[in-house]
Amino acid sequence: MMVRQRAVTLLHSLVLMGLVMLLVVSSGLTASAATQQELDDITAQWQTSVHALNDVNCASCHQNNETNEFVASPNHESCQSCHEQSVDTFLLSKHGIRLLEEKSPLTPAMARLPMKHDAMDKQMNCNACHSVHSADTVEASVDACLTCHNDNHSLNYQNSRHAELFAESKELPRPGVGAVSCATCHLPRVVDDRLETPVVHVNHNNTYNLKPQDRMVGDVCMNCHGVEYSYNSIFDPELVEANFDRSPTLEMQTFDLMEAAEARRTGNASD
Ligand code: HEC
Ligand code: HEC
Ligand code: HEC
Ligand code: HEC
Ligand code: HEC
Ligand code: HEC
Repeated sequence: MMVRQRAVTLLHSLVLMGLVMLLVVSSGLTASAATQQELDDITAQWQTSVHALNDVNCASCHQNNETNEFVASPNHESCQSCHEQSVDTFLLSKHGIRLLEEKSPLTPAMARLPMKHDAMDKQMNCNACHSVHSADTVEASVDACLTCHNDNHSLNYQNSRHAELFAESKELPRPGVGAVSCATCHLPRVVDDRLETPVVHVNHNNTYNLKPQDRMVGDVCMNCHGVEYSYNSIFDPELVEANFDRSPTLEMQTFDLMEAAEARRTGNASD
């Protein structure tokens, strides 16, 4: 039964794939945009992706739901029907807000922060981070960010313990729970427990927890570190610039006060 279902699914996929290829060829796109080799590569990437496993086909993204028209370059709207939460949070972010306002996509050329020279015209959209045909999240977590970002903090990440932890889990299809990538801090996973079985989503709003800085402490650091360690790290601008490549040396003056307040609140009157 399972095998037969799979076979039918595969057949179904191949038919749709053929359809899109036909569309690509007949619209003359092969000559300008995609060679046969590129099509083969795309198909190979897609075949092992979580999309193919879930029956999401070429046409799911390359065909307009309403008009059935072929879409050569799908944008975030093609993901909306299946990934509403990702699209909504992305559109509220610094990365996505221009698209929400119906302006041209954000590019590194518009930035105030240092950006990679050869990425100045790279347009921000879902596929700026995700290699869409493989639906990758590992590459999206660090390597993709570094195709654009070029400030000291971003570049220093590679020297951190966090980067080592990420490298250790790179073989997995998704970054492991012990890994700390750029996304762990800036596009954090959040648990939506409104449903019976809680779902983990990625908050694609990259500015949500930048200010106030305490938000990142509570939402991210304290999943792994103590409150004191976290505060003393995040409020030390040098340590932030170094991307946390050493233990914190700062000792926040207000800290003892906060700790005392917390002890009072929880009734633990120890040190
Ligand atoms: C999850 C959605 C999705 C699926 C599934 C998908 N594509 Fe794409 N495809 C995209 C997006 C997004 C782009 C990038 C458009 C851009 O860069 O402007 C793209 C671009 C392309 C291009 C242009 C060349 C390139 O790499 O930019 C071709 C050709 C293509 N897809 C073919 C296919 C074929 C064939 C399949 C099925 C085997 C497929 N796509 C499945 C979303 C998808
Ligand atoms: C027809 C529905 C559908 C469309 C359209 C679609 N996806 Fe997906 N996508 C899925 C399903 C189903 C999964 C697997 C289950 C899950 O993670 O939610 C998935 C998973 C993913 C994942 C996670 C991969 C992983 O390793 O967990 C990414 C990233 C992704 N999609 C990106 C996109 C992008 C970008 C687009 C638009 C260009 C898109 N998808 C369009 C249905 C869709
Ligand atoms: C296509 C290029 C590109 C990619 C890829 C990209 N970014 Fe950005 N990002 C930008 C640009 C441009 C800005 C706006 C910077 C500015 O206005 O100075 C920005 C802004 C940000 C900001 C907000 C900075 C602020 O002060 O408001 C954060 C945080 C950020 N990006 C993190 C990331 C992370 C993490 C990744 C990878 C998961 C990533 N970015 C991937 C181009 C990119
Ligand atoms: C700045 C880079 C970046 C951009 C832009 C981006 N993503 Fe992601 N996305 C990621 C990273 C990194 C992860 C995995 C983070 C993790 O698991 O720790 C992810 C995870 C996901 C997932 C799986 C987790 C979940 O919440 O279901 C989906 C689906 C997804 N993205 C879809 C999209 C769509 C759709 C867009 C465009 C609207 C988009 N992404 C734009 C970096 C990005
Ligand atoms: C352990 C958590 C953590 C990791 C990992 C991390 N960052 Fe950050 N990032 C921060 C903190 C904290 C700030 C400072 C926030 C503030 O000052 O408001 C910051 C600031 C930023 C900014 C804004 C800088 C500015 O001057 O406005 C960008 C862009 C950024 N990070 C990108 C990245 C990229 C790209 C990576 C991976 C290569 C990365 N970060 C890894 C925690 C992290
Ligand atoms: C998923 C767990 C996890 C998260 C989330 C996390 N860290 Fe870490 N961090 C670690 C581990 C594990 C180490 C390595 C500890 C060791 O080597 O003893 C580490 C190391 C550090 C170090 C010391 C680096 C060194 O070289 O000694 C600092 C500082 C640090 N983290 C700060 C932060 C801050 C600030 C945040 C939040 C913005 C954060 N971490 C988020 C797990 C995490």
